[in-house]
Amino acid sequence: MESVVTEMRKIEEAAGYLKKRGIPETGSGVILGSGLGDFISRLDPGRQEVPFGEIPHFPASSVIGHAGKLVWGRLAGAPLAVLAGRVHLYEGRRMAEVAFPTRVLHRLGVRRLIVTNAAGGINRSFRPGDLMLISDHINLLGGNPLTGPNLDDFGPRFPDMSEAYSRRLRHLARSAAAAMGLLLREGVYLATAGPSYETPAEIEMFRRMGADAVGMSTVPEVIAANHAGMEVLGVSCITNMAAGVLPCKLVHEEVLATTARVQQDFCRLLADTIGLLCRKE
Ligand code: HPA
Repeated sequence: MESVVTEMRKIEEAAGYLKKRGIPETGSGVILGSGLGDFISRLDPGRQEVPFGEIPHFPASSVIGHAGKLVWGRLAGAPLAVLAGRVHLYEGRRMAEVAFPTRVLHRLGVRRLIVTNAAGGINRSFRPGDLMLISDHINLLGGNPLTGPNLDDFGPRFPDMSEAYSRRLRHLARSAAAAMGLLLREGVYLATAGPSYETPAEIEMFRRMGADAVGMSTVPEVIAANHAGMEVLGVSCITNMAAGVLPCKLVHEEVLATTARVQQDFCRLLADTIGLLCRKE
């Protein structure tokens, strides 16, 4: 386990490098999940990017569908930083490594974070291709990114999680969806470590626990963001129905095919929500 001094030094070095590369103070950030990378084309043509591999201490993803670069530019007139790709626990990463990019974003000024993912639908009224606003989460990852010495520079030892997904931002996202005529689902996201998909018995248990969707990401970043006092908006793309809901096998190709199909709606929902956010501030 890293000491507080070492971890803080790594975060500062990564943020310092990005500042040297020209990233401006940025109030809003986005983390893009599997297959949802097209969103970066919504940024102005003058956008700039740095591959994760060039940023000191930044973990680089090995998953197909994850670009692995930090992109910044302007959207709706305001600066925006976008992590196109993320790392997951199932890649053998530690929780603190998964949360590292979120903490670097905080050091760059990000105080509103939009996290997105691909997820399996547990709620039987959902359909593949639906977009779901995350109202809350259940952490079954078997760990927490805040384990170990507390990083007091970010937040308290025992951070509140009673509104992990900001009511204000959810309201803005619902308004953006309504203006688009888009059906926006809302529900509880449950995170498992993966990488195997769940069994039908596990999905039945998760349903009884109150979960509407299941995935293998997002929760570490959201805990780290809440620790640091950031406002969080979470959007899941329901790429498939979870195991046992339909009589078919689950494959990653279906996840990518569905994200490709709904990419346009997804990008517009995010861009319009950010537009509303910038108008309010
Ligand atoms: N389970 C877990 N993670 C996922 C799924 C799923 O069904 N679909 C996309 N990510």
